[in-house]
Amino acid sequence: MLKVENVSVSYGPFLAVNNASMHVNAGETIGLAGTNGAGKTTLFAAIAGQLTATSGSISFNGQDILHQPTYKRAGIGLCRTFQIPREFGKLSVLENLLVAAQDRSQENMLTAWLRRGTMKDTTTQRTAQADQILDTLGITHVRDLPASQLSGGQKKLLELARVLMQQPTLILLDEPFAGVNPVRIGEMMDIFRRLKEQGIALLIVEHHLQALKSLCSRLYVMDQGVVIAEGDPDNVLNSTIVQEAYMGGVI
Ligand SMILES: Nc1ncnc2c1ncn2[C@@H]1O[C@H](COP(=O)(O)OP(=O)(O)O)[C@@H](O)[C@H]1O
Ligand SMILES: [Mg+2]
Repeated sequence: MLKVENVSVSYGPFLAVNNASMHVNAGETIGLAGTNGAGKTTLFAAIAGQLTATSGSISFNGQDILHQPTYKRAGIGLCRTFQIPREFGKLSVLENLLVAAQDRSQENMLTAWLRRGTMKDTTTQRTAQADQILDTLGITHVRDLPASQLSGGQKKLLELARVLMQQPTLILLDEPFAGVNPVRIGEMMDIFRRLKEQGIALLIVEHHLQALKSLCSRLYVMDQGVVIAEGDPDNVLNSTIVQEAYMGGVI
């Protein structure tokens, strides 16, 4: 489904991702681990379209997306969450979701006016979709609260809910457990399993290696811009090269 081949990404002269290759099959849950500064977020940005890879190729469902803008990638089902959630604090949770759906359709004032007769139907339909997503994520009780009042964990779920409004088939999740109360991490893992049951593929960047091991069928590990290991989670985490990259610290 997603094929990343020999991708490099630079910030000026600094090579943050160096010749990285990886793939995700439909419906798979895949982990991406690595120390801080390894290049994980940069690679995500290149896959989702916030940054353009300096070389290499990226395809999604057989389509070359290397130079496609973010909204086009989202439109064909490839979406990401951000390490720091980016909600609109003054809008309610529901309104945040309706805005996300609008983003997807690339609606502007003119197209909205042209189809003003169907606006109400669309809002009703999107509200129903939003309510279903809030239910799946277990945050229906905060539906009408301003997003600024949510806890850290709830903001992470809102970020995920906004992405789900775009009806993705692959979601890139950047450190979904960071800043989340440990008790809530188990609940989030259940949510990811539910998304998998719905056929949605996940690529998860995480430092919480136990969680990755339990969720993922395969792991990739990056170090200093390079993918240094890939495969079965146990084999990868026990490999000498990964142990050395972490200097025995994190694992
Ligand atoms: N906007 C930027 N400009 C310059 N260097 C950056 C920028 N963003 C990240 N970097 C550098 O690129 C490297 C990879 O960063 P990042 O992709 O955020 O790593 P990770 O997500 O694995 O922690 C780091 O050395 C970081 O300092
Ligand atoms: Mg990062």
